[in-house]
Amino acid sequence: MDTARIKRLFVRVVAGIGATVVLLITAVIVKFYVLSPKSRPAPVMAAPTTAEAIERGRYLATHVAACVACHSEVDESIPGEPIVAGKLGAGRDFGDIGGPVHIRAGNISSDSATGLGGWTDGEIARAIREGVSKDGRNLFPQMPYGTYRETLSDGEILDIIAYLRTIKPVSNDPGKTSVGFPVSMFVRAAPQPLETPAPPAPSPSDKLARGKWLLRTGSCFDCHDSVNEKMQKIEGKALAGGMKFPLPNDKGYAIAPNITSDKATGIGAYSDEDIRRALEEGKGKDGRNLYVMPWSYYKGMTKEDKDALIAALREAPPVTNIVPSSSVKQ
Ligand code: HEC
Ligand code: HEC
Repeated sequence: MDTARIKRLFVRVVAGIGATVVLLITAVIVKFYVLSPKSRPAPVMAAPTTAEAIERGRYLATHVAACVACHSEVDESIPGEPIVAGKLGAGRDFGDIGGPVHIRAGNISSDSATGLGGWTDGEIARAIREGVSKDGRNLFPQMPYGTYRETLSDGEILDIIAYLRTIKPVSNDPGKTSVGFPVSMFVRAAPQPLETPAPPAPSPSDKLARGKWLLRTGSCFDCHDSVNEKMQKIEGKALAGGMKFPLPNDKGYAIAPNITSDKATGIGAYSDEDIRRALEEGKGKDGRNLYVMPWSYYKGMTKEDKDALIAALREAPPVTNIVPSSSVKQ
C-alpha cells in the first residue's frame, strides 16, 4: 500500500469512529435529557376534606409511610428520631450521602411560599407516585415514589393529600437536592408516568397480604436490604441488612440488622413480642436503644397492622447474612 492510500484509510476509520461516538453521545443526550424525566401533565384530582379522610391520611403519612419522618426536621441523636417542636413537615436536610449527592427533602407543610400550599392536588400526587416535582424536575429516588406508585391507590393518595393540607404552614426552605454528574444523568431516567391505576390496597382481612403491603409502604426494604458499595440492592438479599448509618456528633453509627426469618443471623428466632418491642419501644432484642430506625412513627400503627407486619416478616425468605453490630455511644 502506498502512503496516500494508508492515509485515506486512516481518515475513513477515524471518521467512522467519530461518527459512532457522535451517534452514541446523541443517543445518550436524547435518552437522558430529551426523553427524561418521563412525565405527563399533573392529573386533575381533588382531595377530600372530611375528618375521616384526613385521619386516614394522617395514619398513612405518620405511622405507615412515615412521610413526616423524612420531611420534618428531626433530632437524629435521640432514638426514634422525634420531630423538633414546630418543624412538622418543614423539610429535612439529609446532608451529603457520599459521592456528588446532597439530599434535601422538601417542605410538605401547607406554607404557600416554601411548602405545598401553592401546589394542586394532582401535582402533589404526581410527585409522590411519579417522581416529578411541580416544576418538572425529577426527584431523587430516596423519595420512595417507585414504591408508592405500586402501593398507594388513588383513594390513599388523596387521603394523604387531605392530611398534608392540614399541616400547619411552616416557613422553611430546606433547599434543593443537588446531584452531580453522572449520577444526575441516571436519576433523570427514574421517574415513570403512572399509566395504570395502582392496585387497590389488600383487604384488611388478608393478614399476610396486608403485612407485605405494610413492609413495602413502610420502606422497611429501603434500609434493611443488603446493598453493594454503589448502594445498589443485592439480588437475593432482601431484608438481609448491612446498610451503615453514621450518627451526628461522633455518636457512632447504626447498622441495619438482618430482619429475614433466618434463625441464626436474622430474626427467625425472635418471639412476636421481641419484634413488637422493636416497633413500639425502639428496643433491640438485646435491649439496646435503636437509632435511625423510625420506630417512633411505626409505633402508632394499629395492633392489627403490627400483627400483620410481624406475620409478613416471618414469611420473608431466610437469608444467612452476618451483619456487624451497631456502635452507638448510648
Ligand atoms: C425515605 C425518606 C422519604 C420518605 C419516606 C418520603 N419522602 Fe418525599 N421526598 C424525600 C426526598 C429526599 C425528596 C426530595 C427529592 C429531590 O429533591 O430530588 C422528597 C420529595 C417529595 C416531594 C416533592 C417536593 C418538592 O419540593 O419537589 C413531595 C411532595 C413528597 N416528597 C411527599 C412525600 C409524601 C407524601 C410521602 C409519604 C407518602 C413521602 N414524601 C415520603 C424523601 C422521602
Ligand atoms: C431509615 C432506615 C430504617 C427503616 C425505614 C426501617 N429500619 Fe428497622 N432498623 C434500622 C436500623 C439502622 C436498625 C438498627 C438500629 C440500631 O442498632 O441502633 C433497625 C432495627 C430494626 C429491628 C431490631 C432488630 C434487633 O436487632 O433486635 C427491627 C425488628 C426492625 N428494624 C424492623 C423494621 C421494620 C419492620 C421496618 C419497616 C416497617 C423497618 N425496620 C424500617 C433502620 C431502618
